[in-house]
Amino acid sequence: MFARSAARSLVTPARQFSSSAARQSKVTVLGAGGGIGQPLSLLLKLNPYVTELSLYDIRGAPGVAADVSHVDTKSEVHGYPADKLDQALDGTDVVVIPAGVPRKPGMTRDDLFNTNASIVRDLATAIARVSPKAKVLVISNPVNSTVPIVSAVFEKAGVYDPAHIFGVTTLDVVRAQRFLAGVAGTDPKDTPVTVVGGHSGATIVPLLSQTPHGKGVTGEVYKKLVHRIQFGGDEVVQAKDGAGSATLSMAYAGARFTGDLLRAINGEKGVVTPTFVKSPLFADQGIDFFSSNVELGPNGVAKIHPLGQLSKEEEELLAACLPELKKNIEKGKKFVQQS
Ligand code: NAD
Ligand code: LMR
Repeated sequence: MFARSAARSLVTPARQFSSSAARQSKVTVLGAGGGIGQPLSLLLKLNPYVTELSLYDIRGAPGVAADVSHVDTKSEVHGYPADKLDQALDGTDVVVIPAGVPRKPGMTRDDLFNTNASIVRDLATAIARVSPKAKVLVISNPVNSTVPIVSAVFEKAGVYDPAHIFGVTTLDVVRAQRFLAGVAGTDPKDTPVTVVGGHSGATIVPLLSQTPHGKGVTGEVYKKLVHRIQFGGDEVVQAKDGAGSATLSMAYAGARFTGDLLRAINGEKGVVTPTFVKSPLFADQGIDFFSSNVELGPNGVAKIHPLGQLSKEEEELLAACLPELKKNIEKGKKFVQQS
């Protein structure tokens, strides 16, 4: 199941679903001119399930669209400037949002809230009005708060379907697979890891005990590996030294998740991947958004899987995750209530 989600599936539909049989899918990228938006747009141009690619940004989207449109795949590409958001969204099936500011060294993702919350709220308001049935994939940080913001905006507009709104946590899965493979001496594609919780520091909980190659990792090596998965984003922020955060690996992860969803929309069964969604798993503790393995289907979320058996260490990681996640979710909801 996870091997199918690997790099190959970015551009190749599963064999039984030929691209000629695929339905028409308009995919819109909001923030297409940015560090993530540009390579993400390129990767989506390579996906045969995408028939129309709509690129929007407050700066530079027509240029990115002109450039990407020369790639020799079938999809049509259109770029929209700042005052053409409604046209960019019109009739779209899927909206991917990497709009907003990235971190600089020393910042947490929550430090981005003041700028990104209103960007995401305003974009969500437009989506709810123009394309209320679209699936919305939120990349903008802090994801733990921006997904509740999009959901609350849709709720306020009376068009909320929890099956349609996703926080993209795929980069945590990608990192976990890559870093565990480094420790275990395996190929990342044969080293699946489920990562649950949210998308920031201690809220990122890798379930290494559930993977054949991960369960043997113990002691200091385990601690270092978990830390690296939880704080992999900081590695990139520090290395970029003020020039932003992960863009290329995030574009890959965003294209991979969008590809998974498009395969499921086109009828492929058994597409399961972690994503941050409205979830019943910890709702009794007041935490109603959570990332766990989710089966995707034509309507978006088809089934939310339980966490399964956790090791003692994972129980501890989860205990540290939940209170922080709760605060982040509440902050997002409150922001929309007060808007
Ligand atoms: P960037 O600054 O390079 O690009 C952001 C783009 O958003 C810019 O082109 C900007 O013009 C555009 N933008 C700003 N306001 C907009 C609006 N109202 N409408 C449309 N576009 C708008 O930043 P980046 O490196 O691409 O990162 C974007 C976001 O993604 C950040 O918040 C970052 O923290 C987040 N991110 C998330 C993950 C994840 O795993 N979910 C990973 C990496 C980065
Ligand atoms: C990441 O995990 O790389 C992103 O959330 C960007 C960041 O701020 O670290």
